[in-house]
Amino acid sequence: MTEDRIGLLGMGAYLPSRVVTNSDWAQWVDTTDEWITTRTGIAERRFAADDESTADLAVQAARAALDDAGIDAETLDEIIVATDTPEVYTPDTSAFVQHRLGARQIPAYDLGGSGCAGFLQALDVARSRARETERRVLVIGVEVLSRVMSLTDRTTCVLFGDGAGAVVIGRGAQAAEILVAVTGTDGSRADILGIETGGTRRPFSPVESPTGRLEITMRGQQVFKEAVRRMSAAAREAVERAGLTLDDVDLLVPHQANLRIIDAVGKALAFPAEKVCVNVRDVGNTGSASVPIALAQAHEQGRIQPGNLVLLTSFGAGFHWGAVLIRF
Ligand code: ACO
Repeated sequence: MTEDRIGLLGMGAYLPSRVVTNSDWAQWVDTTDEWITTRTGIAERRFAADDESTADLAVQAARAALDDAGIDAETLDEIIVATDTPEVYTPDTSAFVQHRLGARQIPAYDLGGSGCAGFLQALDVARSRARETERRVLVIGVEVLSRVMSLTDRTTCVLFGDGAGAVVIGRGAQAAEILVAVTGTDGSRADILGIETGGTRRPFSPVESPTGRLEITMRGQQVFKEAVRRMSAAAREAVERAGLTLDDVDLLVPHQANLRIIDAVGKALAFPAEKVCVNVRDVGNTGSASVPIALAQAHEQGRIQPGNLVLLTSFGAGFHWGAVLIRF
């Protein structure tokens, strides 16, 4: 029976070494440590070094996941990179990652534009691919959000950080089985969170992008409400589809957008705080890297034991959302 499991064979994360504290932000924009801490629960976040870009972070996390799985990059059959902050516009980040890892000339592609939900969407795809084609799939969530945040919009810039997380999905006796994956989209809310310039509707230009940067725009309070509603609903749907209840779940790993959203999701699900994984204080919102980083850290800290049921849930620009239930 155990040989038939399709799931996580290994996981890993990478955070750049540069720490940016709330006090740093207080020197750059009109804000305070107290405001950021109270509204978001974030104390610090990591920024990529000037000479680090998306593929660098992705490769570091991928190597950690491959090491954890005890497998070589040459045995991978497919690579999916979830990111909204790609290495270059075209080709996609996965091409750089495939080459840098020394993987064979396997299919590699990005899942971009889903904001923070990208990793769970990629996990859903990887699970199907592993099931139907017996492929061993590397899934990476990576962001360098420090390069797309507005440096003047104090409400958004303080939220984000850089990082990468990765998992290897495949068949194995030791695999942490993916029981259910739920994903969904409501494009009617596409206007409340995103990067609006740089596409064909509003090409990048000095007129459209006066700061010379691509910048995240967000209607914070609407995002907050949608995030809580969608993450809670997806989490509920995942356990119901598995024929289980929320009481059966040992650890909830929600997207680390901010502490108030995480608390509200926990409350909506009547989930005890000690069973909720929180690292937003130290890393901020790392977009599609958020869930795999939190998962890898929880695993490394021994918070996930064999037999545990772990529920991942996320939401992102689009709006997209997802929940994935895993039996370790
Ligand atoms: N420092 C000090 N004051 C600030 C700051 C700041 N960094 N930012 C905003 N303010 C001020 C505003 O100017 C406003 O002042 P005013 O009352 O004098 O007009 C006041 O604080 C309240 O502003 P709001 O925007 O109403 O603040 P709110 O309580 O909504 O908190 C926040 C803002 C933290 C962004 C909240 O809306 C939120 O958490 N939204 C969800 C954001 C999020 O997680 N987005 C996800 C990003 S992407 C993703 O994860 C998919």
